[in-house]
Order: sequence, then structure tokens, then C-alpha cells
Amino acid sequence: MSKLDILIAPDPRLKLTANPVENVDDGVRRLMDDMLETMYAAPGIGLAAPQVGKAVRVIVVDIADKEEEPQPYRMVNPKIVQASDELRVTNEGCLSVPDFYADVERADTITVEYQDETGARQVLKADGMLATCIAHEIEHLDGVLFVDHLSLVKRNIILRKLQKAKRAGTI
Ligand code: NI
Repeated sequence: MSKLDILIAPDPRLKLTANPVENVDDGVRRLMDDMLETMYAAPGIGLAAPQVGKAVRVIVVDIADKEEEPQPYRMVNPKIVQASDELRVTNEGCLSVPDFYADVERADTITVEYQDETGARQVLKADGMLATCIAHEIEHLDGVLFVDHLSLVKRNIILRKLQKAKRAGTI
């Protein structure tokens, strides 16, 4: 496994719509392993392939506490097929938006269809933090960041600060 570089917003590669994966092959499995290693090292609880510069519909998630056994999800072509009307607010962050956090409202419970690392179709019903994290990562596949849920003013403040920090080489 190897650690990958995480793209920092603003970056046009984070705004692309990622392509569906046709075959879950060794290359896809290695990408998911590398993404998990990158995510754990960051540390983070979710990572989408566009964040490491790969425009494919692949995400990894693990919301287990540090003291717990790892519970990694490797999801290929994930799709939310059902979302509860009940919402929850989470103070979200993102490895591509370092050091900024904001409240985002999402469905409390979702049902996700995806393919696992063998290519087999899976259906997962998730709630709470797991649902929030999966929904956040799936949005990355359509070029949406959590800051896109904020007002234009707030979003621009954050993106301008990140741009400045990138130019200064401090992130
Ligand atoms: Ni993110």
C-alpha cells in the first residue's frame, strides 16, 4: 500500500463528476487500499477518489474510534437509493478543506447500494455518523464539497483562505 497526496480546495479536479467503475479489478482494489492508508494517516473518517486526483466513483469510510477495531467500508459506484425525511446536523470537516468545520444538515438514515471490493452488489442501511459520512463522500463524486452547503459568502471566505495558505505553502 502507499500513501497518496490529498488535493486541497480550491482545485478544479475536486469539481469534476467522477466516472463509474466498469470492472472492480486489482487496480481498483489497490486504489481503495491506498485511499484507506491515506485516510487513516491523515487522520480522517472518509475519503473519495477525486480527493486523490482519481475521477472514479470510489469511496472509503471508517468511522470506528481509534481504540476500536477498524471497520473499513470500500464502496464502488455507491448510490443513495433512499433517504429519511428526518435530518441531522453534523459539524463537518473534510481532508480537502483542512482546518475548517461547519454545520451541515443531511438525512439521518440512508440506504446505499454499491459494489464491494469483489464487485458484488451490496445494500447498506446506515444512520447517524455513518450515514453523514457516506453522504459526504458520495457528494465528492459529483464535485460537491461540504462548503457548497454554506452561503456563498462563507464559502468564499474559506476558499480564499485556503488559496492563500496554498500559495504561502503552509498547507
Ligand atoms: Ni470531504
